[in-house]
Amino acid sequence: MFTSSTRVVPEPKKVPRHIAVIMDGNGRWAKKRLLPRVAGHRKGVEAVRATVKAAIDEGVEFLTLFAFSSENWRRPAEEVSLLMELFGRALEQEVAKLHANEIRLKVIGDTSRFDRRIGELVAAGEALTAGNSRLTLTIAANYGGRWDLAQAARAYFAAHPESLAADAPVNPELLEPYLATAYAPEPDLFIRTGGEQRISNFLLWQLAYTELYFTDMLWPDFDAAALRAAIASFGGRERRFGQTGDQVHPGGA
Ligand code: IPE
Ligand code: IPE
Ligand code: MG
Repeated sequence: MFTSSTRVVPEPKKVPRHIAVIMDGNGRWAKKRLLPRVAGHRKGVEAVRATVKAAIDEGVEFLTLFAFSSENWRRPAEEVSLLMELFGRALEQEVAKLHANEIRLKVIGDTSRFDRRIGELVAAGEALTAGNSRLTLTIAANYGGRWDLAQAARAYFAAHPESLAADAPVNPELLEPYLATAYAPEPDLFIRTGGEQRISNFLLWQLAYTELYFTDMLWPDFDAAALRAAIASFGGRERRFGQTGDQVHPGGA
């Protein structure tokens, strides 16, 4: 179990332990080149490879990537099925490489809506890489922050029926072991590419004290240098977690 940022003030660090990314802008990247949107998604998979490698080089321990949101089903059926195909193929082609590089794979989200082949690839990939500890790579697929809170609440109440009593105390942190990301510390740094400045139903609970970083760069262009720029921005910030600046830097600048 990791400590909660709303219960304990975390130790300051220059390099984020956990980075969460909304990989946005694939469609616009393709449109600028007069290519079909799927060409942007394909190029986006290459940017994932580069980012995973760069995260390891920078000493990041957890990398969480938003690949498909619970609202992305609203896209045209053809794009949804192309995205599923790409996800399946990436699992087939990359899991052995992840394992060879000592990367642990996790997939969070409601995967029950995916076809059986993807479900099996996810289960096999997670099982194969479960013992790896160099980097935990989490893919959020059919993930929604509201879904996560609802499923955590259901699991919590099933395990603790006594908490439904009218006089039971409210302790928000008790939900944390039931969140889809319970195996990871809260993200230190959130990155969104593509120029939009919104959370789009990503990790609603987990981002409570995360530093937010937005860049206009489109996801297919994201690379090691872009990751280093985001980490450098993080390194220059003062995280206060509700305290005053003087408490964080006693007598300091
Ligand atoms: C992000 O790129 C990938 C997914 C949401 C699957 P988009 O496909 O949202 O790209 P834009 O925002 O249309 O450029
Ligand atoms: C968020 O991007 C989801 C993923 C990157 C998977 P979207 O492109 O779907 O977000 P909105 O619709 O612009 O908020
Ligand atoms: Mg988008």
